Amino acid sequence: MSDLHSITDNSKSFAPITEFAKNANVTPEKYKELCEKANTNYADFWGELAYNNITWNKNFNSVLNESEAPFYKWFEDGELNVSYNCIDRHLNTQPNKVAIIFESDDGVVTTVTYRELYIKVCKFANGLKLLGVKKSDRVVIYMPHSIEAIVAMLSCARIGAIHSVVFGGFSAKSLADRIMDADAKYLVTVNGYMRGGKKFKVKDEVDNAIKLLPSNQLNNVIVQNRIDESCSMQIHRDEWWDDVIKNVSDICTPEFVASEHPLFILYTSGSTGKPKGVQHSSAGYLLGAILTMQWVFDYKTSDIFWCTADIGWITGHTYVCYGPMAVGATQVIFEGVPTYPNASRFWQIIEKHKVSVFYTAPTAIRALIKLGADLPNQSDLSSLRLLGTVGEPINPQAWRWYYETIGKSRCPIVDTWWQTETGCNMLAPLPGVTALKPGSCTFPIPGIFAGIVDENGHNVGLGGSGSLVIKKPFPSQFRTVWGDNERFKSAYFPVEIANSKYYLAGDSAHLDADGYFWVLGRLDDILKVSGHRLDTMEIESALASHPSIAEAAVVGKPHDIKGESVFAFVVCKNGKSPTPDTVESLKTELRNWVGNEIGAIAKPDDIRFGDNLPKTRSGKIMRRLLRNIARGEAITQDISTLENPSSIEQLQRE
Ligand code: WTA
Repeated sequence: MSDLHSITDNSKSFAPITEFAKNANVTPEKYKELCEKANTNYADFWGELAYNNITWNKNFNSVLNESEAPFYKWFEDGELNVSYNCIDRHLNTQPNKVAIIFESDDGVVTTVTYRELYIKVCKFANGLKLLGVKKSDRVVIYMPHSIEAIVAMLSCARIGAIHSVVFGGFSAKSLADRIMDADAKYLVTVNGYMRGGKKFKVKDEVDNAIKLLPSNQLNNVIVQNRIDESCSMQIHRDEWWDDVIKNVSDICTPEFVASEHPLFILYTSGSTGKPKGVQHSSAGYLLGAILTMQWVFDYKTSDIFWCTADIGWITGHTYVCYGPMAVGATQVIFEGVPTYPNASRFWQIIEKHKVSVFYTAPTAIRALIKLGADLPNQSDLSSLRLLGTVGEPINPQAWRWYYETIGKSRCPIVDTWWQTETGCNMLAPLPGVTALKPGSCTFPIPGIFAGIVDENGHNVGLGGSGSLVIKKPFPSQFRTVWGDNERFKSAYFPVEIANSKYYLAGDSAHLDADGYFWVLGRLDDILKVSGHRLDTMEIESALASHPSIAEAAVVGKPHDIKGESVFAFVVCKNGKSPTPDTVESLKTELRNWVGNEIGAIAKPDDIRFGDNLPKTRSGKIMRRLLRNIARGEAITQDISTLENPSSIEQLQRE
């Protein structure tokens, strides 16, 4: 088995680094105290943390209301404003502290202080109000990773509007689907941007999306002039960002909202072919972001924090927009890609901006090892003190390289397990306390009661494997699937597991002899390709909507860098499989088709044609067999019960 997939290498553990542990926010004593408090008085534990870490406009009396479980309500009668917590409350203490160091694709650096961020947010919030955006209105943000994207998010939060950021790599169709599902009347975007030296004409894509919408769907499209590129602007509907903020005040009184007021919706893949709108609350979400900044990332006021995730994913929401701003950090945001103009870019940015906390995905680490394992040695990485990973399991080999070559064996690595739905880190080392095991996200953070259970909801015990659950409600948990409470209940709180009491993560996990958690992968049909979450059914329906395709089945194939890659089996209409002459062009066409339907991240690496797909007599596609074929593994199971056993042989042929 390749190193990437033998992740439960348990051979070595790394004790907390003494130098680091001396100044860590959470010491062993503090950890013990937090855990004891969470064990003995759960409501007080969370109540006290919420009271101390959030600036409330109106304090709360009720910590947790479970009367409509699993629709839990936290700090219900409290009132706050999240943008106030991210900006205003730092104005007295550190108005001139740099909030954001932005490095563009071509290396131009722009910095924004907290005071400047305040003015930008107030102005844009006032501009939104002037256009008619009201509390609870949905605003879709389709922008590249930028200061303005953060400003747009915080401006929505300021006026109580609910943002829904759509990752810039999603296609016009995906954008249109999300606008309609959220019933958004406003869209914030850019004319275009540069990434990896390539130009992306975003407004053109937006115009394609608008063609798919009912004509009265959008009241306004706000376009930030990010690059020197003309674009079409429809009069009365399309407004330039600069015009929107032209004659408005730079003071905007925050709209104080109830704790449970939705802060944002973020669409994510959910193994039913239809992305779901993960709806987060205001106070509970914010609390999770703040606490994990302090506990897991050990935030210090002197830190330069850099999370490389795009604003379009949950990691970009919690550890770019909300977490770092709420604690008053200075953070780096980078518009480009790690490999442009060369594979030293990340290391040069760390040196240039003296990054102290660096948080990235295992995929990026693996890609950079491959492109130049020695390159980091050309940069001065001595500013680093803590490293993190997220999004997928990290293989021990990549972990060790990260630890030794990037961290020089003096920076702890926090391998953080969490999900769009959990809002913040759930299982992660506390860097001054926890001994690390490469590939394990170690233990739940204080207040999180995670377990690994069998199909009946019973603990598997040390050495066992099963399904990862969280046994008690927690503040940062998402509140529902936007517009679909039933889906929320049935997908995340199924009756079979502890009578709907446990939150079901959808991941399989292993508990080793020392009680460490090892997250192994998804139990459903979700793939993690370069850390991006993709739904096989969504890709299948995209392929099946191509005029030449009758049917498609998609599975994941292990990939040394991306973790997993998309492998598609397709059947053409009328059994007309392509000839050797046409096969490559049809593959290219199908890849582009998926790119247009969903986005480039979902394009299949492998496409294999067949006259039909292996199915049971009841018509169910045998995905397990397809997975074996994709991996080039021998088929050992009995296939005599298949409707069409001959399909196997054909699909096994390249
Ligand atoms: C996977 C990303 C192993 C897991 C924040 C989860 C991980 C899914 C880890 C959520 C990790 C995330 N180790 N697997 N440290 N972190 N995952 O919603 O399968 O994009 O369910 O959130 O990523 O992906 P999402």
